[in-house]
Amino acid sequence: MSAEMTYRPPVISGHERPMVPALARIIDRTVETSNTATYQLELCDPGLAAKFRFRPGQFNMVYAFGVGEAAISICSDPGDCTKFSHTIRHVGSVTFAISRLSPGDCVGVRGPFGSSWPLSACRGRDVLLVAGGIGIAPLRPMIYELLRHRDLYGRLMLLYGVRSPRDMLYREEVEGWMRRRDFQVLTTVDYPDADWSGPVGVVTNLMRRVRVDAARTSVFVCGPRIMNRAAAHSFLAHHVPQEHIFVSLERNMRCGIGQCGHCQYGPKFVCKDGPVFSYASIQHQFSKEEI
Ligand SMILES: Cc1cc2nc3c(=O)[nH]c(=O)nc-3n(C[C@H](O)[C@H](O)[C@H](O)COP(=O)(O)OP(=O)(O)OC[C@H]3O[C@@H](n4cnc5c(N)ncnc54)[C@H](O)[C@@H]3O)c2cc1C
Ligand code: FES
Repeated sequence: MSAEMTYRPPVISGHERPMVPALARIIDRTVETSNTATYQLELCDPGLAAKFRFRPGQFNMVYAFGVGEAAISICSDPGDCTKFSHTIRHVGSVTFAISRLSPGDCVGVRGPFGSSWPLSACRGRDVLLVAGGIGIAPLRPMIYELLRHRDLYGRLMLLYGVRSPRDMLYREEVEGWMRRRDFQVLTTVDYPDADWSGPVGVVTNLMRRVRVDAARTSVFVCGPRIMNRAAAHSFLAHHVPQEHIFVSLERNMRCGIGQCGHCQYGPKFVCKDGPVFSYASIQHQFSKEEI
């Protein structure tokens, strides 16, 4: 198992008080879609802010005062941790409460928690990222790292599927990635509008449009449960080894530190052993899951 995938104590809350949130101020808010926004945060305590580091794929527990906490992936560049961002879809009590906040307002933050995408394991290999909807958020820090050290990797590909063109996150950034000659980016939508001229259909359909050299490709998948399963099984059918397929899982979370059992996944805890797992490490559980 690579170092990125092993548990390390979180930095913000410290090892001894991992349940105590630190105060973080919203310094910017960007509307992404009708129900999703990206919040840029900075820790109010300069000492904690100076120490804060995260790895691509990790998450924070974000606390809306008086309402509760939700697990949210860190979606910004790990090369600059003085500020960090969360893209949040407003779906329930905590995320709706956060949607009512503006720059200058504060939230509580615990983290960073969980395992990360194993970048070191894909050095010298082709890297294929598969994102569905808000699943692009935890993959974005990895994209920054891959592009920063572009020469360390082989071909770099992103397959990104959303429901409709209006649901595409980080639109300008994605268009910028598409213009690069060293990054193959394909997007698809379930429901096109009049201006959409790209592929239509589920993201796994895009796999037919890329050349995958199974022996030298590492695959990273994050999206809805059904997409994760379809993508993983499809790459297995293309003979990509289980050890080189990585999936980020979502489960209901409470403590974030492997204490409460809410996120149990077979013998593992998604908060502590994941959220990033190699397919090889969860294949027994994964193959039993209902679609
Ligand atoms: C590792 C990890 C990373 C994540 N990263 C992100 C991220 O980057 N961005 C993001 O937006 N989300 C992310 N999530 C998901 C987020 O944590 C959940 O959506 C969280 O539940 C939101 O909290 P909430 O209180 O706003 O919504 P909740 O109240 O928990 O509701 C969440 C969903 O469950 C449904 N629901 C709620 N209560 C019920 C009920 N009683 N019966 C049936 N359905 C119900 C709601 O309709 C809604 O669809 C992540 C989750 C994990 C585990
Ligand atoms: S959220 Fe408590 S054990 Fe994972």
